[in-house]
Amino acid sequence: ESYDKGAFDHYMRKEIADQPEALRRTLSGRLEPRFQTTHLGGITLTARELLDVRRIRILGCGAAYIAGALGAHLIEQLARIPCQAEAASEFRYRNPVIEMDTLYIAVSQSGETFDTLAAVQEVKRKGGRVMGIVNVVGSTIARECGQGIYLHAGPEIAVVSTKTFTCSVVAMALLAVHLGRLRDLSNANGARLLRALDALPDRVAAILEREDEIARLAEFFQGAEHAFYVGRSAGYAIAMEGALKLKEISYLHAEAYPASELKHGPLALVTPETPTVIVLPRDDLLAKNVSTIEEVKARGGPVIAITHPGETHAPFDRSFEVPALEPELDPLLLNIPLQLLAYHVARQRGCDIDKPRNLAKSVTVE
Ligand code: AGP
Repeated sequence: ESYDKGAFDHYMRKEIADQPEALRRTLSGRLEPRFQTTHLGGITLTARELLDVRRIRILGCGAAYIAGALGAHLIEQLARIPCQAEAASEFRYRNPVIEMDTLYIAVSQSGETFDTLAAVQEVKRKGGRVMGIVNVVGSTIARECGQGIYLHAGPEIAVVSTKTFTCSVVAMALLAVHLGRLRDLSNANGARLLRALDALPDRVAAILEREDEIARLAEFFQGAEHAFYVGRSAGYAIAMEGALKLKEISYLHAEAYPASELKHGPLALVTPETPTVIVLPRDDLLAKNVSTIEEVKARGGPVIAITHPGETHAPFDRSFEVPALEPELDPLLLNIPLQLLAYHVARQRGCDIDKPRNLAKSVTVE
């Protein structure tokens, strides 16, 4: 893979387009259809040691932390191990209790983020077990962890993470299947998830072919200075990532909120000038999400739904529909249009997409 932008105007756009290939590399050699599980050769903990894990805590900063939030859903759902993500920058300063039956996972594209490295060192200093989910081979965090999963996503030049967000979540999906199959995840469900993971690169490619539709959705943000991104459960993690991308590159104020919490405060800010993007995966919270759309519409707020075909007839103004794959992986597919949405809003506003003001690709200082 070359380091230039190729046919694209920006590295970010190239890296969005790279995703199917990057995903193929993350998945390469790691699907084990014979045993309906995954093969993760970079993990040195034995099956017995993995079975003894009672809790998992995922640490990262920015998009890596948000990827961890989505990964935590996957691990809890598939392996039934309590799992939470936390900003490494907070964790390292709060004198955390390190438990010996907890597995700590550090997520980092660069492998050089100072706060994440310090969190890893804090875990190790107190005798805890940690593994890395890292893109850059041989980076400081990868070496400090000593075990884990490399993304092999290829170089990411744009300051904002796109392909490495997607590949990090998939690395955690591989781990979730692995842990699940050591516990109660059935053969049939293991096989179903392997098939879905294998299909994921082509599904992402199919979404990318619909860029024109997403560019038209970006016009919805004209004249807006504030936007809400809402969702529930895994949909909320996607809302967080969508809002982070938008604010990083377009400088629009985008606030992610759990859809369930809107009525506890932020609804006061909803007006015809504040678009709301709602992430609607196929889950058992769909009816609740429909009532959130109605609450926003009742205040005159425009709503864009990022969802699947035929999921709902709620009164949103615009939608982008992604064909569903499997419920566990669908939220990740819903993030792809949000990457392109942020890109096109930033383009329309004439922003410096690859080098947003005040931000660095890798924050190697405290
Ligand atoms: C994401 O778009 C940003 N580039 C930023 O939030 C980033 O995810 C964060 O600084 C962590 O970087 P890392 O993955 O290299 O550790």
